[in-house]
Amino acid sequence: LKLLSVVSEVYPLVKTGGLADVAGALPAALAGQGIQVRTLVPGYPAVMAALGGVEEAFYFDHLFGAPARLYAATAAGLDLFVIDAPHLYDRPGGPYVGTDGRDYADNAQRFAALGAVASGIGLGLVPGFVPDVVHAHDWQAGLAPAYLHYAGGRRPGTVMSIHNIAFQGQFPAQVAPLLGMPAHAFSIGGIEYYGTVGYLKAGLQLADRITTVSPGYAAEILQPEAGMGLEGLLNQRRGVLSGILNGLDATAWNPATDGLIAAPFDAKRLPARAANKAALQARFGLVESPDTLLFGVVSRLSWQKGLDLLMDGLGTLIDLGAQLVVLGSGDPQLTERYAGSAWANPGRVGVQFGYDETLAHLIQAGADALLVPSRFEPCGLTQLAALRYGALPVVARVGGLADTVIDVNEMARASGVGTGVQFSPVTVPALQAALGRTHALWQDKTLWRKLQRNAMATDVSWDRAARAYAELFRSLARERAA
Ligand code: ADP
Ligand code: GLC
Repeated sequence: LKLLSVVSEVYPLVKTGGLADVAGALPAALAGQGIQVRTLVPGYPAVMAALGGVEEAFYFDHLFGAPARLYAATAAGLDLFVIDAPHLYDRPGGPYVGTDGRDYADNAQRFAALGAVASGIGLGLVPGFVPDVVHAHDWQAGLAPAYLHYAGGRRPGTVMSIHNIAFQGQFPAQVAPLLGMPAHAFSIGGIEYYGTVGYLKAGLQLADRITTVSPGYAAEILQPEAGMGLEGLLNQRRGVLSGILNGLDATAWNPATDGLIAAPFDAKRLPARAANKAALQARFGLVESPDTLLFGVVSRLSWQKGLDLLMDGLGTLIDLGAQLVVLGSGDPQLTERYAGSAWANPGRVGVQFGYDETLAHLIQAGADALLVPSRFEPCGLTQLAALRYGALPVVARVGGLADTVIDVNEMARASGVGTGVQFSPVTVPALQAALGRTHALWQDKTLWRKLQRNAMATDVSWDRAARAYAELFRSLARERAA
């Protein structure tokens, strides 16, 4: 089976969040299931610079404003199709926002191009690779299933995957005529969304199958609180909706071989972990004390992640005598609050802002517990890394967090299966109670080690997910062929 994965970011070439991790890891996992994957990405400067074995696969006289080329190439072990369209993608900023932090004014065109080219490949633009299934990730790829739907005739199966329903790609109605779809596409059964053009909505409406990244989130987005306006459509299509839990790149995240941490360790050599904690405390200028409970955070600083709640509840953490290290980037107001908390709690709270892959690994390896107080979380990857590195996850009981962490409640403890702490509702008092529970567990060193070993034994690999995706793609391909 041939699969075209359509995505706006892919690790290690370009990444703003977990979407890139997933898009980067899934191809290898699917290869193990006999699925041949090519990934279509925009030709941002970082992508163009990384390409090897480049071959021109197609020439467009006109792609949303100017000529463009489609390359087949490889980079970082990935088989890629890359859209070389300098007028759309050759810019100094990020994949979605410019150096001024604002969305590019032509994002509608930039990601319509992604969808249109995906559709072209799906219909046979590149004779050497005609996919059986086109897999579109998030709103940036949402028009791919729509273009294929309106193309008519024989087409591959389409799957729309939701990594985060909060980002929907809504653009003014004036965009519709620019897309080159039939006029009737701009209707409630098509790409129209409350009077606008909705890229994610289009994909959800017109793809053959819909997936999201955990079973828990698949259930949550059918409700108004989490569906963010799309719950009605999702309820209509619930027969084709499923949740497939993300995995973690087990090679990049392996504490036994990780070159980015101070000392490698595994479940059988847990004492070796202490060197990482010491290095982490030193790195953040905290009091170097092995017995002090050290909480870590690795996150985007945004409303979704609930990190304002941690600031509101920080007094409890301090009163417990614990420490906190935070690596985050995003919201300027939150950044300011975190900077202030480090200033007010020298030796106890340490913060670093920006994106730092190496430090993210050291935090997973050195923190005793990883805090993830998200208001919603489609899957979450940092708690998976935390499990693997024996940093007990302390998580809000939502979405993929609830699906991946086993709360150490009475029965879990009696059965010896707990891997972390969950709390609910996502409020300051509940978070504070969770900090207190974690601190109580920390007092019992034998129990704590047992929990760490449980956590580290959790299967966070891509194997299970790869099998589930493979089954989905195969059944869809059979259905299209029939
Ligand atoms: P989301 O995609 O919503 O941001 P995930 O938990 O799925 O959340 O994925 C986040 C990914 O980004 C993880 O690989 C995590 O390690 C990484 N990450 C987040 N913030 C930072 C940061 N400031 N520095 C380095 N890596 C980060
Ligand atoms: C999104 C979600 C996150 C998920 C990631 C990868 O960024 O916020 O929960 O893990 O996508 O699927």
